[in-house]
Amino acid sequence: MFTQLGPQPPDALLGVLAAFSADPDAGKIDLGVGVYRDATGTTPVMAAVRAAERDVLARQATKSYVGAAGNRAFAAFIEELTLGAAHPARAAGRVVTLQTPGGCGALRLAADLIARIERSSRVSVSDPTWPNHVPLIGGAGLPVEVYPYYDAASGTIAFDAMLATLARLPSGSIVLLQASCHNPTGADLDPAQWQALAELLGRRGLIPLVDLAYQGLGDGLEADAAGVRLLADRLPELLIAVSCSKNFGLYRERVGAIIALAPTAAAATTVMGHLQALARRMYSMPPDHGAAIVAAIAASPAYRADWLAELESMRRRVTGLRAPLAAALREATGGRRFDFVGTQRGMFSLLGLEPAQVAALKEQHHIYVAPDSRANVAGLAETQVARVAAAIGAVLRAGAAHG
Ligand code: LMR
Repeated sequence: MFTQLGPQPPDALLGVLAAFSADPDAGKIDLGVGVYRDATGTTPVMAAVRAAERDVLARQATKSYVGAAGNRAFAAFIEELTLGAAHPARAAGRVVTLQTPGGCGALRLAADLIARIERSSRVSVSDPTWPNHVPLIGGAGLPVEVYPYYDAASGTIAFDAMLATLARLPSGSIVLLQASCHNPTGADLDPAQWQALAELLGRRGLIPLVDLAYQGLGDGLEADAAGVRLLADRLPELLIAVSCSKNFGLYRERVGAIIALAPTAAAATTVMGHLQALARRMYSMPPDHGAAIVAAIAASPAYRADWLAELESMRRRVTGLRAPLAAALREATGGRRFDFVGTQRGMFSLLGLEPAQVAALKEQHHIYVAPDSRANVAGLAETQVARVAAAIGAVLRAGAAHG
């Protein structure tokens, strides 16, 4: 049986992680996989997480099953963070939330739920998008298409083209959106664009599936959820895939949630039943530990305050790196091609380099970015800014000399 399998190409992002680990160079720089690092290059365990984890371990009386829906206190907190404490849809019982293994688990469950309702539902994703979106959604058997999103020349959103393409989709189509800190481009919709998009989705009967993976790392916890809240205000149906990997730093604990907003409370209850059944047949129940930590943070005003303060300091660090990086790139390249890096938000920017330039960064400068030239700005130390900019300038000049 196994001999029939051909070799599997490395994962676009995890392959970079492996290549970086294997590089013996002492000065190597990893801007590949999307993890936050502090100024010393460490991906820290947040202080509130560490404290809450101690409490969880001290108080835990059993290791018995949590059930397919997961931790309910966790789910309530995630709803509050995503939609706000007093969203009318929550009060009306139209919102249900199921704990999932990471944001990936939420995306896959969303896709399975959609496929269960209508196998031929088309899911449109931004061009470009996070590489794992396509296998996660396509793996559920749904056809995946793209809509224009990014204008690489200007480093901004191709909003008119995006709306024009979405306007042609058949009613009932699913549109995958990213709430904030767009992966890989770093280019987010502004409030007026969210308004126009919400209006179009409502008018055309399109259903958004929103990936919320970086709440708190763009413009702030509330601002990063403003777009998804607008959709929840305006539309009868909405799916949201939440990840706690980045904003709680719980990457390896695999903590996430799927939120469904349904037109009625009865429909929401039915959706929850299907989500639990889908989880049960795939992985049965989510892991407990990370969600228990998040729930313990939610339960303690002191931990909550501490978590919010640390998240805000992480956000400021990443945002604060952008202007110096853009300035260093201007100096290293003698042009304004990378000015967008300074104005974008979130962990990533797409540098717009050719594959050969990405390879040259790695081979000649030991600087690792994703294969599509996405740079994880959140992984950069202040002390590395000048070297990274100089290396990008050098590979561009070498490319120009050879071209
Ligand atoms: C990334 O985009 O690098 C992260 O979300 C990690 C992953 O799972 O790909």
